[in-house]
Amino acid sequence: MLFNRFLRKNRPVLDSLKICIRLSYRNMSKSIDAASTNSKRGDTDCLPQTTVTQPTPSDDAFVFHNDWPDEIKADFLRDMRLFERFLSVDEEQSLMAEVEQVIQRMRYEYDHWDDAIHGYRETERKNWYPQNRLVLDRVGKFAFDSEVMPYVHILDLARDGIIKPHVDSSRYCGNIIAGLSLLTDCIMRLRRVDEKKYYQGKNANEIQVKANDEATNEFGYYVDVLLQQRSLYIMRDSARYKFTHEVLAPGAEFKGAAIEKDRRVSIICRNDS
Ligand code: OGA
Ligand code: MN
Repeated sequence: MLFNRFLRKNRPVLDSLKICIRLSYRNMSKSIDAASTNSKRGDTDCLPQTTVTQPTPSDDAFVFHNDWPDEIKADFLRDMRLFERFLSVDEEQSLMAEVEQVIQRMRYEYDHWDDAIHGYRETERKNWYPQNRLVLDRVGKFAFDSEVMPYVHILDLARDGIIKPHVDSSRYCGNIIAGLSLLTDCIMRLRRVDEKKYYQGKNANEIQVKANDEATNEFGYYVDVLLQQRSLYIMRDSARYKFTHEVLAPGAEFKGAAIEKDRRVSIICRNDS
């Protein structure tokens, strides 16, 4: 009797709990399906979606330009990793549905050419819907030895939006940056810089904008990484501090083919500095 009254009184809460569990379960079984389909294809660069294993970078997505010292290259390959098809199509859609809800009223910023990012809108989000939380937890487990910061950064770049070369300020971000790429392929270029020259102080944009073409070409070598739609990159240590990163404009070439970057949404997890 008492139990029945409890059930009646708490019906709305119990119903929403049930929905959460259902969504999580549905998502879990989809991930298991995706993982088994992927492993059937025998892909080595595709991460099984339910297990956390040692990462295997997908080296095909890297093109090294000019002369790289062996040691720096080895460090870079250890510290910059890309996992193609990290997200399933359903997961991408579900993340995008949530992103659209929080970002659709914001305007793209084009005003300040000095900003590191041009043609963008952005926000941070802490409380994600359960099915998307599961995906972010998977990123967290996979990419970070330590805690992920509770706020996840959402960056929406318009089709003609670009990210200019910069190093994220160490004031706001620790040694690891993990980014999911949604909606389009694009090219991320990383150029070697002298990290000592980088002022890592407070900056209005929370990211460091020191690099210009002159400064960033001081070493003369760089790498282009094809960030495929639904991939995850993990940039840490040497890749995060000794290189600037940028996202090239639509039409930039990768292995001789023009990559028509479109609107791009990235979801970026960082650890504390
Ligand atoms: C940034 C940045 C990269 C990305 O927001 O600082 O470099 O993948 N983003 O969008
Ligand atoms: Mn950055």
